Amino acid sequence: MPWGKLDGIEAAFTFGDVILLPGKTEIEPSEVNLSTRIGQIGLHVPILSSPMDTVTEAEMAIALARMGALGVLHRNCTVEEQVRMAKAVKRAESFIIRDVVTVSPEDSVRRAKGIMKDMNISGLPVVVGDRLVGIITRRDVYFAEDDNLRVEDVMTKDVITVSPDITPQDARKIMSRYKIEKLPVVDDEGRLVGLVTAKDVFYRESHPFATRDPEGRLRVAAAISPFDLERAKALEPYVDLLVTDVAHFHNENVIRAAERIANEVNVPLVAGNIGTLEAAEEVITRMEVVGLRVGIASGSICTTGEVTGVAAPTLYAVIKASEAVAKYGADVAVIADGGVRGPAEAAKAFAAGADAVMLGFALAGTKESPGSPLIVGGKMYKVYRGMGSPSARSKRFALDRYSRPSKDIAEGIEGLVPYRGDVTTVVDKFVAGLKAAFGYVGATNIAEMKAKARMAIVSPIGTREIAPHDVKPMEKFPA
Ligand code: XMP
Repeated sequence: MPWGKLDGIEAAFTFGDVILLPGKTEIEPSEVNLSTRIGQIGLHVPILSSPMDTVTEAEMAIALARMGALGVLHRNCTVEEQVRMAKAVKRAESFIIRDVVTVSPEDSVRRAKGIMKDMNISGLPVVVGDRLVGIITRRDVYFAEDDNLRVEDVMTKDVITVSPDITPQDARKIMSRYKIEKLPVVDDEGRLVGLVTAKDVFYRESHPFATRDPEGRLRVAAAISPFDLERAKALEPYVDLLVTDVAHFHNENVIRAAERIANEVNVPLVAGNIGTLEAAEEVITRMEVVGLRVGIASGSICTTGEVTGVAAPTLYAVIKASEAVAKYGADVAVIADGGVRGPAEAAKAFAAGADAVMLGFALAGTKESPGSPLIVGGKMYKVYRGMGSPSARSKRFALDRYSRPSKDIAEGIEGLVPYRGDVTTVVDKFVAGLKAAFGYVGATNIAEMKAKARMAIVSPIGTREIAPHDVKPMEKFPA
């Protein structure tokens, strides 16, 4: 029977349409390694947060980077605000502190004491010009007989210093050997160029899998409009990755504008959102990107599909984008964005070819997402809204994403999600669920998941059967 326009029709399956089939396994979930890579950025946890103003600001980005994932700062704010967030992430931890607070030998002990108290720091390098001449610590000021004494009267003159190429391991050894907490970093000419503190060295050790840049600072990504070269340039010194934030990247004007950013800004770029093979091929062959953000209309707060009838469900989009990546042998990460509610959808995304997942809903409602919890009917919630929702659009800076003059409709909603506490707990559960899924499939890592996993289509009746059914869960009974 001729189907006219429907002849040769494609099937665009979504996460809920398919299941992963179990495979022969020789591994335990604890042996699974979920690490991934986006360009030069290695992640121990293959999760990026959505750049949404109810999901990612500095607090979320810091928490995620400490866990080995990556936060993408939203752009529904001024350039200055977004830059401030990026700087806050970079300052949160650093192996070598670069903007060191110092005193001069002529300063009074009182002044040194005041600085230590006000800035909550326990030691100050003493400099003449930029040359290191000593160090004064809380102990020195505490035991000084008189606050009017000068810094040079009580400071330690014989300072143990290190050179700028010091490694965290060597710094730790030196600190342990001499039982000191601060190591001034000096260059060949004796100029103070930094400071290593015990706190930062030991903090690093307690977060060995954190996502860090070569200087030991936490990594952070930021969203930009492809048309906002000025924002991209302002963010350039502070971010490790730029992520375009546009509902439909496969648009000649958008691609041209993004090409300009890719050429003029020296930060790796993730392009998106895209949803088809053709879009992925065009981006890969036209511009230098390290990742593709894929999926259109699958987001939990998204009304695009409903309003316009247009969608590229994330599972479908991942399959198509990874086909394009394989075809061109491109070193481009596929990031599944939208509809990844929990580890089950994430596992299917990896099986379909994704290298990482982007989470909005799953991270909204945590302590680290922006905004305070609300109490409704005795339960705690937090607001989660689409960046194309009326309230987000009413903030001027969302305009270029969904409500350019040609778009008069909202494409997202605003709602409440249950308050879920620390993001660490949420991510830990997510990772545990993913590892279990990898275990069932028999995959030790993401590459094996892509290669080994088999998916099957499941009917709506089957979907009901593979979720808890017939029994009313205990928590639904009032206490
Ligand atoms: P989840 O399902 O994780 O999806 O909540 C988050 C992703 O949804 C996209 N996003 C939107 N899509 N209208 C849309 O069509 C919107 O208002 C909107 N806001 C966010 C975005 O890709 C995000 O990462």
